[in-house]
Amino acid sequence: MTLDTPMDISKSPDDGVNRDQIRAMRRSYGEKGLSEAEVSPNPLIQFQSWLGEAARNPIIVEPNAMVLSTMDSYGPQSRTVLLKDVSEAGLSFFTNYESNKAKAIEFNPQVSLLFPWYAMERQVIIRGHASKIGTEASAEYFATRPWSSQIGAWASSQSRDLESRVVLENRYEELARRYPEGTAVPIPPHWGGYMVVPHSMEFWQGRYSRLHDRLIYTTSPAGWQLSRLHP
Ligand SMILES: Cc1cc2nc3c(=O)[nH]c(=O)nc-3n(C[C@H](O)[C@H](O)[C@H](O)COP(=O)(O)O)c2cc1C
Repeated sequence: MTLDTPMDISKSPDDGVNRDQIRAMRRSYGEKGLSEAEVSPNPLIQFQSWLGEAARNPIIVEPNAMVLSTMDSYGPQSRTVLLKDVSEAGLSFFTNYESNKAKAIEFNPQVSLLFPWYAMERQVIIRGHASKIGTEASAEYFATRPWSSQIGAWASSQSRDLESRVVLENRYEELARRYPEGTAVPIPPHWGGYMVVPHSMEFWQGRYSRLHDRLIYTTSPAGWQLSRLHP
């Protein structure tokens, strides 16, 4: 569909915001700091602890949502996915193995994961290597998903062009008839998990006067190293 797009966007719509309003959007951050003495020597344990705090905080929606950035031949691309496990082995999420993100991971398995816990004045940025998890582990998680999500995973050719919503809904209905609710839905061959093995994990805590705390763990042959970065 080609759109007849107006070229002048200087007049924002009535429900939009102007440049001065955008520039005035800022917050001061708090007193609560992050020190080398208080963090765990293991960044995955430190992460677990922050994720737990985010999960218990009622103002944080989707505490396990993370921005996954990948690189393909066109450049970088980011999108949100849900963290589904964290262990000593790494962090995992589930998706369509024929999606754009899957193609990008095949092109370059180095990825970034960003947890934007703005309401807690926190951000965690993880860089690491992504690889597919085993079919059995994917199937085990797939079986725990609600039936409607299982059918949805079958119905969607994620990232491909879709001529209309009706086509998708008809496909869903057809698959819902093939795998009725209450029966075991097999895992689609195009669906499964990825594990990201981190090689750096940065914990950011907002502070007064933009003097934020940034503690970064990086891997070395001797184990995890901890450093502080300028904000
Ligand atoms: C809060 C939130 C959670 C999401 N979780 C997932 C997820 O776990 N897996 C997934 O494939 N897509 C998830 N999505 C959709 C993705 O952001 C994205 O639109 C989709 O995976 C297609 O990305 P791609 O075309 O870059 O592969 C989520 C979106 C949001 C906003």
